[in-house]
Amino acid sequence: MEVVREEAATVAAAWSPRGAPDTWRLTAAQFDALHDDAELVAIASTIAPDRLPPLLFTAAANSLVLRLEPRPLRDSFPRLGQPQPPLDRHFRRDYRAFCLDHRDQLLELCACHRYQMNEVGRCAHIVAALGPEAEEERELALIDVGTGAGLGLHLDRYRYVFRGPGPSLASAGGAGSELTLAVDIRGTRTPPAPSALPRVVERVGVDIEPLDLDDAGVRAWLAACVPQEIGAVTRFHAAAQVTIEHPARRVRGDASEVLPEILAAIPDGPLVCVVDSYVHVFFEPDELARFRAIVDGVGAERDLDWISIDPLVPMGRAATSTVIGTPAPTPLLERNRSEGVFGVLAKLAYRRGRRSAALLAIGHPSGVWLEWLAPSQAERGR
Ligand SMILES: C[S@@+](CC[C@H](N)C(=O)[O-])C[C@H]1O[C@@H](n2cnc3c(N)ncnc32)[C@H](O)[C@@H]1O
Repeated sequence: MEVVREEAATVAAAWSPRGAPDTWRLTAAQFDALHDDAELVAIASTIAPDRLPPLLFTAAANSLVLRLEPRPLRDSFPRLGQPQPPLDRHFRRDYRAFCLDHRDQLLELCACHRYQMNEVGRCAHIVAALGPEAEEERELALIDVGTGAGLGLHLDRYRYVFRGPGPSLASAGGAGSELTLAVDIRGTRTPPAPSALPRVVERVGVDIEPLDLDDAGVRAWLAACVPQEIGAVTRFHAAAQVTIEHPARRVRGDASEVLPEILAAIPDGPLVCVVDSYVHVFFEPDELARFRAIVDGVGAERDLDWISIDPLVPMGRAATSTVIGTPAPTPLLERNRSEGVFGVLAKLAYRRGRRSAALLAIGHPSGVWLEWLAPSQAERGR
């Protein structure tokens, strides 16, 4: 039970740390309610640890609230097209009572679903990591590992605005895009965010359980996995629309098993860009080692990037390294211990057989902010 409480606190701190916009209060309140309540923790603790109990429990609760519309509880949850509602002052009491009253339905939902949060906002971090490749307009073969519903397969179809403390730093993508992803840049360094997006000539999504957005039930479950913050909810629905309009190839299977064949079929020419966001953090160490060996093998033969946005591993306060295998510097480990989980943007690049690894940035799990860490070329030249 203690592990579940600790995980709930970590998730609340990650999505809604001190100083987060008010729109994240509901999400924090849900995980805090779970953390602080012995009966709720007892229910969540019946979920197997590898099924991410606090996240799955909260997604199930969201699903029931959105479907059953209990009053006044439903009024604290966002509705598409409207601003985030204020959190009712009796939210905790009502949320707790609702979860306890619907204990069996909650557990039934948890038993027949996996936690599959799809956050298209993370594409902005991936795009920042593409950097010069996009500027040079090199063709890209995009392989999104752990693609879920496939929202990340369309990163070239969204528009991006990188906002500094003053005016916008850069924007990329078509003005007519159905979805604009705005990211606040924190810290003192500016990411080399591209002003142009790459030309994606191949796109393949891989998932152990790909999700079909044409299925209304699947779509409703995914909407419930999204944190109930109006920005996240709006992004999800807009990206789902884009994804439905542009069917892309998806392969069902374990990444390490299906990736070699997918990569072998990509013709010479485009830069292979393997992307993973919040996927490899959930791999066991031997799975991760196997995946890295596959990428190393292909990288020795052709140009390839692996861009990852994942928390440090092993996930939690005892983390030591990035999923791409580079050790994390001490100041970052300290922040990981004190600030709660954040995404770490890292890139493994292979050019003509030479391999280089870079830890680029840290970011909010829903892509809301990005703090660039890597020194710029000018700084490196000093
Ligand atoms: C937390 S979701 C992230 C989805 C998406 N990448 C995003 O950031 O919005 C993790 C996804 O990885 C998939 N996954 C987990 N293990 C996998 C594996 N071994 N091979 C392929 N996909 C896997 C899950 O099914 C799930 O869709």
